[in-house]
Amino acid sequence: MSVDGPVVAGSRLALDEVAGAGGAGLALDELAGAAVLARLDLNVPLAGRAIADDARVRAALPTLRRLLAGENRVLAVAHLGRPAGAEPRLSLAPVAAALARLLGTDVPLVRDRDERPPRGARVALLENVRFDARETSAWGAERRALADELRAGADLVVSDAFGSLHRPHASIAELVEAGPATAGALVATELELLAPLRAPPAPLVVVVGGTRAREKLPLLERLAAAGATLLLGAQIAEGVARAAAEPDGERARRVLAHERTLLPPDLLVDDAGRLRVVALADLRPDMRAIDLGPRACARFGGRIRAAGTVVWNGPPGFQHAPAGRRGAEALAVACADASGPTIVGGGTTSMPLRALRLADRVTHVSTGGTVLLHLLAGDPLPGLDALRSARRAPAPAPAR
Ligand code: 3PG
Repeated sequence: MSVDGPVVAGSRLALDEVAGAGGAGLALDELAGAAVLARLDLNVPLAGRAIADDARVRAALPTLRRLLAGENRVLAVAHLGRPAGAEPRLSLAPVAAALARLLGTDVPLVRDRDERPPRGARVALLENVRFDARETSAWGAERRALADELRAGADLVVSDAFGSLHRPHASIAELVEAGPATAGALVATELELLAPLRAPPAPLVVVVGGTRAREKLPLLERLAAAGATLLLGAQIAEGVARAAAEPDGERARRVLAHERTLLPPDLLVDDAGRLRVVALADLRPDMRAIDLGPRACARFGGRIRAAGTVVWNGPPGFQHAPAGRRGAEALAVACADASGPTIVGGGTTSMPLRALRLADRVTHVSTGGTVLLHLLAGDPLPGLDALRSARRAPAPAPAR
């Protein structure tokens, strides 16, 4: 049985509509000797300057390997974090090094589009595209100008940043729209593996963790309206509760009051440097939520085990400290026990599954995070819409 209401806009998951050249994988395999610009999602979690989890880098490899097998020259474009200008701590240098190690070839980091990769380099990585403010600009003209600069000299754009398809950004939308462009292997695989979300068995339980509660409020509202039961992680619950207490917190109050919103009954908090478990209702302004409390872990675990479908995005506690990881571990164990389709996705969300060796006990570990929630809410995805309207890829070029 599927959930009543417009939970999933099936057309948003239709691979054949977005494959550009009549089959994403096919187009990649047939390309030869082309200059390819590949938009990837290499937004990895960092621990200092090191990559804490390289799943997104590994997920980019099938597309890159196919392109390299065809003697194409690839410039990869990606973002890391949300920099305000060129912040050295968010350089893609560690990601270029990881790509080089995994591909077994040099992957130079190119600081800007005009800098030519060293001779002989078959794949290079452009420095964090968000260092250029036009990438995320609200002005279409600025985004188009950046897209034109990025596209210059490329025969084809390959759109493979599955986790970012919901962003209306220059390298996700405008770059692809003008084409020629095609979907990469990861986008194709993700859309296939997410097929259970076309008609998810009820009840649909959506775990929303991570931070940035205010930013997620409209999405939470749409998900609840679409029939999903929402389990809110510690920081999201804290953020929604604090927003609801403000005079302009109407939307937060609606989310809290929704019959399908499930709040953690207790939280592990930092109270003047000491860890304590308190009820959500007893959270004081000077306390900081660190993780779900034990009652919340048990209640959420029960909901996950009884769900028809589970989608989980965002860790429910702070992953940087061991004290903040218990909630994520409890949810990972519950997901492994769930009997219906269980989809876990996002930069750090799947880390406990891998750490506990439970990744093969869920239906799909997706590279997509927030994009999964937008898919469920039936929201427009600018990256998919751009692929739909993109000029088709040209016929395969002869090897040169
Ligand atoms: C993600 O991690 O969800 C994607 O890479 C998009 O990143 P963003 O939320 O910073 O746009």
